[in-house]
Amino acid sequence: MVSFSRLTTSSAASLLCLVWLLTISSPASASFTCTSAATCDAIIDYTLPNSTTFNALKKLFQVKNLRSLLGVNNLPMTTPADQKLPANQTIKIPFPCLCRNGTGIANKRPTYTVIPDDFLSHIVTDIFAGLFTVQELQTVNNISNPNLIQPGDKLWIPLPCSCDDVGGEKVVHYGRLVATGNTIEGIAQRYNVSQDTLLRLNRLASPKELLAGSVLDIPLKACQSTVSNTSLDYPLLVPNDTYVFTAANCVTCKCDSANNWTLQCQPSQIKSSLWKTCPSMQCQGLDNFYIGNVTSSDCNSTACTYAGYSNQTIFTTSTQLTCPAADNNSSGMRPGTESWNIILVAIHLVFLSALYLR
Ligand SMILES: *[C@@H]1O[C@H](CO)[C@@H](O)[C@H](O)[C@H]1NC(C)=O
Ligand SMILES: *[C@@H]1O[C@H](CO)[C@@H](O)[C@H](O)[C@H]1NC(C)=O
Ligand SMILES: *[C@@H]1O[C@H](CO)[C@@H](O)[C@H](O)[C@H]1NC(C)=O
Ligand SMILES: *[C@@H]1O[C@H](CO)[C@@H](O)[C@H](O)[C@H]1NC(C)=O
Ligand SMILES: *[C@@H]1O[C@H](CO)[C@@H](O)[C@H](O)[C@H]1NC(C)=O
Ligand SMILES: *[C@@H]1O[C@H](CO)[C@@H](O)[C@H](O)[C@H]1NC(C)=O
Ligand SMILES: *[C@@H]1O[C@H](CO)[C@@H](O)[C@H](O)[C@H]1NC(C)=O
Ligand SMILES: *[C@@H]1O[C@H](CO)[C@@H](O)[C@H](O)[C@H]1NC(C)=O
Ligand SMILES: *[C@@H]1O[C@H](CO)[C@@H](O)[C@H](O)[C@H]1NC(C)=O
Ligand SMILES: *[C@@H]1O[C@H](CO)[C@@H](O)[C@H](O)[C@H]1NC(C)=O
Ligand SMILES: *[C@@H]1O[C@H](CO)[C@@H](O)[C@H](O)[C@H]1NC(C)=O
Ligand SMILES: *[C@@H]1O[C@H](CO)[C@@H](O)[C@H](O)[C@H]1NC(C)=O
Repeated sequence: MVSFSRLTTSSAASLLCLVWLLTISSPASASFTCTSAATCDAIIDYTLPNSTTFNALKKLFQVKNLRSLLGVNNLPMTTPADQKLPANQTIKIPFPCLCRNGTGIANKRPTYTVIPDDFLSHIVTDIFAGLFTVQELQTVNNISNPNLIQPGDKLWIPLPCSCDDVGGEKVVHYGRLVATGNTIEGIAQRYNVSQDTLLRLNRLASPKELLAGSVLDIPLKACQSTVSNTSLDYPLLVPNDTYVFTAANCVTCKCDSANNWTLQCQPSQIKSSLWKTCPSMQCQGLDNFYIGNVTSSDCNSTACTYAGYSNQTIFTTSTQLTCPAADNNSSGMRPGTESWNIILVAIHLVFLSALYLR
């Protein structure tokens, strides 16, 4: 009798322990595969451990400017930097990615400066919400004895990322936090990638292996742009549902599926980071025809599109827009003259850019 009761107690305890482990297990952090020898821009989800502000986030992740933080979250430019963000809200963080040894990690930014009484698991769990493991933090910073971190030490924060093409296409890799109830099927549908691709990228054997709290590598489709390969921002990869500032802040571009995945750019009206005033953004030889403008006419219009920049000039391209034959009878949407036009027609490049005329 005695041994029987002891047995049940101990198996009950181990069962409880198992249940506890299953519920409390911290985010399973897995590094992302990255085989291209490259650097690129990446995005990761961060669930706020405490209430905070965009300014504090910008500082913690060393995001270059508030605009890029707002841009990846597709929030209005007018959002105040000190707006209160509640704990548990998930914010997308943009950061530079470096691929080495088959995996991608943040390219030496962000770094974290150790303060008194810090310890590694606190930094990983309470500050960076478990986006990487203590082991990864130790390895990348060559910390053999975790008790020997000193206030003032600068730690390289190994956020997971990748720069690899997916399905032959350039994409932006997004480390998406898996929420309770998420399924591979649902996520695949939302980002229009095949389930096989998602499983392969994340080295999951089956959809059942998806864990809430883990960070999933999602290849975000980026808009097609006409940026020249000689441009300083080549290849301008703007992913779905985001906007960026480029050409030293002179141009702003956004991407969404509503425009047939064509990048929509226009002059930005903000101060340039390079020039006193922005160079001309006019398409060659055409009066009052600037980046983002489209001539209005049925099924035969021309768009002035952004084609990149150098430290001296901003390139433009005139793009001929024609209606696809199948759309002959459709009347609803036709290009207007305002900026951010909805262009639902095929695009043929006309090599008129200032760049090529030199
Ligand atoms: C945040 O989420 C955790 C667990 O999901 C919960 O325990 C906590 O109360 C939440 N905090 C706030 C401020 O909502
Ligand atoms: C890459 O891996 C090799 C062997 O696995 C190792 O010697 C080298 O230090 C690693 N490089 C980096 C930058 O981690
Ligand atoms: C959140 O608050 C906890 C408790 O005060 C603190 O330990 C932790 O460092 C804070 N995290 C961040 C990112 O400020
Ligand atoms: C890591 O640190 C150890 C001891 O401080 C040192 O011998 C070793 O060269 C370091 N390795 C790297 C790759 O920096
Ligand atoms: C693009 O983003 C929108 C808004 O977040 C989302 O509804 C849509 O599913 C996304 N599409 C793809 C292909 O990523
Ligand atoms: C999803 O991708 C397929 C093939 O890549 C494409 O044909 C389809 O139009 C896309 N669907 C959406 C809603 O973007
Ligand atoms: C840039 O594009 C041109 C044609 O568009 C091509 O001939 C050239 O090889 C490309 N250069 C690079 C460095 O990719
Ligand atoms: C489109 O309009 C331009 C002038 O605006 C004209 O030269 C060209 O022939 C037209 N193209 C078609 C296909 O109608
Ligand atoms: C532009 O960049 C080139 C090298 O890339 C440099 O030689 C030149 O001085 C720069 N010009 C200006 C105006 O900054
Ligand atoms: C398109 O419509 C016009 C008149 O609306 C007609 O003349 C033309 O033949 C149509 N073209 C096609 C390819 O259906
Ligand atoms: C052309 O673009 C400029 C700059 O975005 C804008 O101010 C202007 O209103 C546009 N012109 C037309 C005719 O759409
Ligand atoms: C969308 O863009 C693709 C390639 O850029 C083009 O082949 C296709 O015809 C476009 N579709 C429509 C409806 O304009």
